[in-house]
Amino acid sequence: MNFSERFVRRFDDEIRFFKGWMDGPKAVGAIMPTSSVTARSMASVINPDSGLPVLELGPGTGVITRAILARGVAPADLVSIEFSPDFHSRLQLDFPDVRFVCGDAFDLDTTLAGMNISVFDSVISGIPLLNFPMARRVALIEDLLDRLPPGRPVVQFSYGPASPVAARGTSFSVVHHDFVMRNVPPARLWIYRRQP
Ligand SMILES: C[S@@+](CC[C@H](N)C(=O)[O-])C[C@H]1O[C@@H](n2cnc3c(N)ncnc32)[C@H](O)[C@@H]1O
Repeated sequence: MNFSERFVRRFDDEIRFFKGWMDGPKAVGAIMPTSSVTARSMASVINPDSGLPVLELGPGTGVITRAILARGVAPADLVSIEFSPDFHSRLQLDFPDVRFVCGDAFDLDTTLAGMNISVFDSVISGIPLLNFPMARRVALIEDLLDRLPPGRPVVQFSYGPASPVAARGTSFSVVHHDFVMRNVPPARLWIYRRQP
């Protein structure tokens, strides 16, 4: 893709993102799409040779989806859950072979029902966790880790200075993965995992 095509796509993503933000600012939880630098850093935790599918949460305009595919994950091995029907329809057009589900990441038993997948390689999450109560954040991470082999990561995007999920008293640990200045606003990435 040449420079002008990239520029048009980025502008289109920003317009779409702004519209999504107008429709549901709390659910979208950001003012700009994630940068490609952030997206690449998140996708770097995936093991594309694991033979297991990858789970993405809150793909929005698909910036992180694109980075996951560029990491070497086959589109059919990516399951991606988006709450907004508008984002979901557009994602299906942009990435026809990815397995998008329009549903709630906090209710995975319902959202993933019928997919017949019990284990994922890793989880890449752009959900705006800070907009949810701490008990729900912890429950989500515990649920996600139940679906991964021990030691494999859930990577979570956040704008706050600290991890959006407190790990004390939980079954998992948290580490700071990256701080990306080339994101608007700058973002931190956190990794949650259970001992192998
Ligand atoms: C911060 S935006 C992600 C931005 C995305 N990385 C991009 O650059 O377009 C958060 C996304 O999570 C979605 N979302 C929010 N709550 C959700 C939920 N409970 N289940 C699934 N998706 C959710 C929003 O609709 C939005 O697309």
